[in-house]
Amino acid sequence: MTEPKKLFIKTYGCQMNVYDSERMAEAMGGKGYVQTETAENADMILLNTCHIRERAAEKVYHELGRLRHLKDENPDLKIAVTGCVAQAEGKEILSRAPMVDLVVGPQAYHRLPELEAKARQGEKAVDTEFPEEDKFEHLADRPKASRGPTAFLTVQEGCDKFCAFCVVPYTRGAEVNRPAARVLNEARDLVERGVKDITLLGQNVNAYHGEGDGSIWSLARLVRELAKVDGLERIRYTTSHPRDMDDDLIAAHGEVGKLMPYLHLPVQSGADRVLKRMNRGHTAEEYLRLIERLRVARPDILLTSDFIAGFPEETEQDFEDTLALIREVKFGAAYTFKYSARPGTPAAERPCLPDEVADERLYRLQELINQMQRASLDSMVGKDVNVLFEKVGRQHGQMVGKSDHLHAVHITADEIKVGDLKRVRVTGAGPNSLSAILM
Ligand code: 5AD
Ligand code: SF4
Repeated sequence: MTEPKKLFIKTYGCQMNVYDSERMAEAMGGKGYVQTETAENADMILLNTCHIRERAAEKVYHELGRLRHLKDENPDLKIAVTGCVAQAEGKEILSRAPMVDLVVGPQAYHRLPELEAKARQGEKAVDTEFPEEDKFEHLADRPKASRGPTAFLTVQEGCDKFCAFCVVPYTRGAEVNRPAARVLNEARDLVERGVKDITLLGQNVNAYHGEGDGSIWSLARLVRELAKVDGLERIRYTTSHPRDMDDDLIAAHGEVGKLMPYLHLPVQSGADRVLKRMNRGHTAEEYLRLIERLRVARPDILLTSDFIAGFPEETEQDFEDTLALIREVKFGAAYTFKYSARPGTPAAERPCLPDEVADERLYRLQELINQMQRASLDSMVGKDVNVLFEKVGRQHGQMVGKSDHLHAVHITADEIKVGDLKRVRVTGAGPNSLSAILM
């Protein structure tokens, strides 16, 4: 028997990339590759890149520079760059980093096995096309290995919103929706392999409108149908845009028991002037009304968001409006970003704020978010919560899982196994997680 070839994948950025990396690993599994934890002994290295953050491309070139010696030591090693930096830089990567063999954009992953075979014959390739076909359908030939209790499932990709700061509509392209039947099949397959908790993924997931049987299904419809899958216990979806929260989806939060009381709904800023310049298409007040309606449907829903500090021309008053919105909504957690100009986006044409101003606002933003997160965790102490256990903890006999509200929960109890869903009593709260006991 021939030794399996080793594949090392380094994943940057969002959950969509994590999902894509898993699919690529499975597709390369069909070509005799097994995943390895270190780049050192790999036969193929895949950098699945993200373009959201500042100097993303530079960081990838830097990483490639660090990998060059491996290629010198093992001329059979193949290096592929995938993800949004691959899409944005294209063949530029091959000229700046000649050790790279393949540059594959997010819409061309189904061609990876074929491109790898060509690379083995010394043929370099750049594939950043946006084909019409469903890339995941082609990546579906995978071994039926069992897996952990939680999984991501991509239902939608790309974005038509064109927020003024964001590269996604350029790197991931226009919105593409997977047909509902394929999503349901993949969900059933995941459940057979041990998954109990699925997060539906999309850059703009609540804009989902996929082909159902003879009609177009909304995300709400998809969620209602998914909830009928036996053995699937929990459903979430991310990331959503406030403008696409329709009545049916809000209602689903009150009606579908398997839909978890958790929603990541980025608002970016609490100031109307900034929201307008960001091309978000809604006001702060409209966002607040939306939250109100969600809380009527599901009173205990936990909300999280993304915020950008120091967007071009943001005034101190604008920034304070953002802090006021955060205090009003009481988010359970949030991702905070310092604005960074992405070349090619409209916001990049505008004058940036001085760095010190943006840094100082980012700091204040983080302080407030930390305080909110702390309060959210503290409010759970003494309550009974459902926890799906995902892994063993660092301490002896400890298990770690997630509550319905996506709080991390630690417990020491020998009788709990990975994949168990149990009701536990919260006894304490730390800065990032809860501790609990069995009842
Ligand atoms: N600068 C700072 N943050 C950004 N994000 C997207 N583009 C930029 C940018 N140019 C943030 C937004 C988005 C999250 C995924 O990344 O908050 O919701
Ligand atoms: Fe980017 Fe805006 Fe689309 Fe989100 S909604 S991916 S921030 S353009």
